[in-house]
Amino acid sequence: MDDAHRQDHAEQAETGSPAQDPRARISALFDAVADTYDQVGVPFFAPIGQGLIDALDPRPGERALDLGCGRGAALLPVARAVGPTGRVLGGDLSPNMVAACRRLAAEEALAHVEVRVMDAQDPPGPDDGHPLDLDLISSSLVVFFLPDPLAALGRWLPLLRPGGRVGLSTFADQDPTWQRVDEVFHAHLPPELLDPRTSGRAGPFATDHGVEDLLQRAGFVDARTSHLALGVHFADAEQWYRFSMSVGQRAFWAAVPESERASVKAQAQDRLAEVAAADGSLTFAQDIRYTLATRPGG
Ligand SMILES: C[S@@+](CC[C@H](N)C(=O)[O-])C[C@H]1O[C@@H](n2cnc3c(N)ncnc32)[C@H](O)[C@@H]1O
Repeated sequence: MDDAHRQDHAEQAETGSPAQDPRARISALFDAVADTYDQVGVPFFAPIGQGLIDALDPRPGERALDLGCGRGAALLPVARAVGPTGRVLGGDLSPNMVAACRRLAAEEALAHVEVRVMDAQDPPGPDDGHPLDLDLISSSLVVFFLPDPLAALGRWLPLLRPGGRVGLSTFADQDPTWQRVDEVFHAHLPPELLDPRTSGRAGPFATDHGVEDLLQRAGFVDARTSHLALGVHFADAEQWYRFSMSVGQRAFWAAVPESERASVKAQAQDRLAEVAAADGSLTFAQDIRYTLATRPGG
């Protein structure tokens, strides 16, 4: 094996090979980024997760489930809000994300939090020691990764008490200039990474109505949407690169053959330079969609 192939091989082991089961691919990808995720000086997931929990408005004592919890961008705010008389269960496919989230919850002494490896497509029910009659389920930037989002939401519904609420965050409009930078990867992306669901910006996730309709078809009522306009600031092109390696976009880099990676990076840097401020910094806008709905009967 030459060096380039050895490197490709190592990265496939890290981010999962295209032929793998999608869950194994996602788990490997998020295992690889768990240490640096949202830790490169560009606040992204934390403000999005906080906004989702603000919209869900948890009260002290409530019981919550956060699916696809990652390092806890939504889980930690919901745990703070429900307080020690509440209970929070978090689940993620990636064992490294679960470990990071547990550690962060322990650092804040949030003893009412439990975090487990769990598949959000089919979360544990009453027979698995799951707390019944949840007051709320949150899931920030996850549902578009699921193999069958409609079926998953249908399974989440009976975990809630009647009147319990669900809140999802998904990506709405992305800054066209940021999109233009991301397009440097497109020629290299395998179909499973070009899948609209992976982007969270197409199919049922393309519009407010699409996500509301999905929730309603799963049996929820009173689906409603609000938005957060998030300004995402990079000190320079290098910080954009580090950010891209610390999030799901790392899979895009892994899809580019090692021999072409420097040229793709240079293309991205050229596109970034076109829109950089005089000091080299970059600010992009990302519109985040929050969709809330309710289990009927409350
Ligand atoms: C974009 S991250 C969001 C993480 C966290 N909610 C946040 O906002 O920072 C997506 C997360 O969903 C998890 N995930 C994807 N598919 C999943 C599934 N089927 N079951 C559980 N977790 C899943 C990934 O491992 C990853 O941690």
